[in-house]
Amino acid sequence: MSGERWVFGVASVLFVFGCASSTAGVSVEQARSASPRGAKVYERECSGCHGDDGGGLSGTPRVMGAGALPLRGASGKLGPLRSAKDVFDYVSSEMPLPKARVGSLPEADYWAVVEFMLRGAGKDVPAEGLSAATASSIVVNAP
Ligand code: HEC
Repeated sequence: MSGERWVFGVASVLFVFGCASSTAGVSVEQARSASPRGAKVYERECSGCHGDDGGGLSGTPRVMGAGALPLRGASGKLGPLRSAKDVFDYVSSEMPLPKARVGSLPEADYWAVVEFMLRGAGKDVPAEGLSAATASSIVVNAP
């Protein structure tokens, strides 16, 4: 009995620690379960260049993980990414590369992949997700 309690105690500590560290950090795994459609689009259209977990490959910026999607982009040169709408506008008009493929996804896939990516970057996306109606009010980088 006391052995079971001990195991339960350790499990709860790990659970609490896990939750605390995932709010401070960022979990791409959680983003996958919260935004499954976007995760699929990402895997198909983006991961080859930005990495399976969005960590970036040589020559491509990180798009997920803590600190991803800073105000002026990894290069410091993007128009400011203040809201989810700014990120959507950038991605839907500049990605996926190469140039010939820019804008090639259905609009719904762009929304889905941006939702997934924002979650994977630890940005606050409401539970109901991202849409054209809400994107402007979702803050990605506070002023
Ligand atoms: C063929 C390679 C390639 C593919 C495919 C690709 N990207 Fe990119 N992406 C890049 C490169 C290179 C840059 C850097 C561009 C720059 O700084 O001007 C970039 C920049 C970005 C940025 C800006 C990040 C920052 O902080 O500067 C985002 C966001 C992004 N890509 C998202 C996506 C998404 C979403 C997809 C899939 C729909 C995608 N990319 C597909 C190569 C790619």
